Amino acid sequence: MKKKWIGICLAAAGCMVLLTACRDDAGRGPKDSGEVKTVSWNTPMEKDGRILLRLANNQKPDHPASEACDYFAQLVRERTDNRIQIQVYHSSVLGNEAETVKEVEYGSIDMARVSIALLTSYNQELLALQMPYLYKDEAHMWRVLNSGLGDKYLESMEEKGIEGLCWYGAGARNFYTSSREIRSPADLKDMRIRVQESSFMMDVIGTMGAIPVDMPYEDVREALKNGGIDGAENNFPSYASAGHYHEAPYMIMDEHVRIPEMVIMNRHVLEQLSQKDQDTIRQAAYESSLRQRELWTEYEREQWKVLEKAGVRILYPEDKTGFREMVRPVYDMYGQPYEDILSEIRQMGGPGA
Ligand code: GCU
Repeated sequence: MKKKWIGICLAAAGCMVLLTACRDDAGRGPKDSGEVKTVSWNTPMEKDGRILLRLANNQKPDHPASEACDYFAQLVRERTDNRIQIQVYHSSVLGNEAETVKEVEYGSIDMARVSIALLTSYNQELLALQMPYLYKDEAHMWRVLNSGLGDKYLESMEEKGIEGLCWYGAGARNFYTSSREIRSPADLKDMRIRVQESSFMMDVIGTMGAIPVDMPYEDVREALKNGGIDGAENNFPSYASAGHYHEAPYMIMDEHVRIPEMVIMNRHVLEQLSQKDQDTIRQAAYESSLRQRELWTEYEREQWKVLEKAGVRILYPEDKTGFREMVRPVYDMYGQPYEDILSEIRQMGGPGA
């Protein structure tokens, strides 16, 4: 068995010295061996002729993104006769989203399913896909992601050692609050709203009049509960799956932004597999992305009933013009370098996009 060494630390002379923590045989997280070894990094872990890859995901197992990751792992296992096994770790077991992105870059985790809000330090241009009120609807966003432009972005972090294997959708993000309802854009004023750890998202929410508070996803429910924040913003499945609705029962479907997600993989690990295995992984990831869209719709339908029963109040603004107007400065701040891309994206929305 080749051991996979977990930990990150650069030694002098360009060697990689890793504080080792080898996994136990059941693959259940690190078991600190206390040794310090020099190893070539980014080696896929092999055990008894099998290749074991780890995929980190911060959603709970019932979330559609998690089920899609499971499906991806299942396809790869079936198509390689159990030779390549992707172990999927849900519920942030391997760290919060920002941490897992870094770990994929370093190769201490092989793959992760993440929001692209956390990937802009690898390619700033990914901001163009996250601009507020950019897409007409979900179908428009998928047209973009499935186009040559989408493919280009999947490949765009390769120099930094990361490959985007496929896209997952993440619906639209909406505000939800614990005590004071948001009925119009003016109601956002001075509300402490949690945002992802992204300076761009801080600017979007700040521009809308709220006070942005960035924190990892796992901490949001507790912060809503103890009053550290007045509300948050996320898509409907995450609001449901993370249980945020228990603490923040007022939601307004303003759909201010759509932030797609990727399954990313450490490129060096990927490249050490045979071409056939690489193709199997890429194809399975793509098929899981198709499945993720179906799972998303099914989950929204199911959770709708659950939340209705729980007494959640969901407001649909008749007119989103006020919200749209508020985010204009975001285009002045961020849009200019991406004008061509933004216009290409708009064209994919069809007439009036
Ligand atoms: C979405 C997304 C997560 C992300 C979360 C967040 O739910 O699926 O990957 O971490 O938003 O708001 O942080």
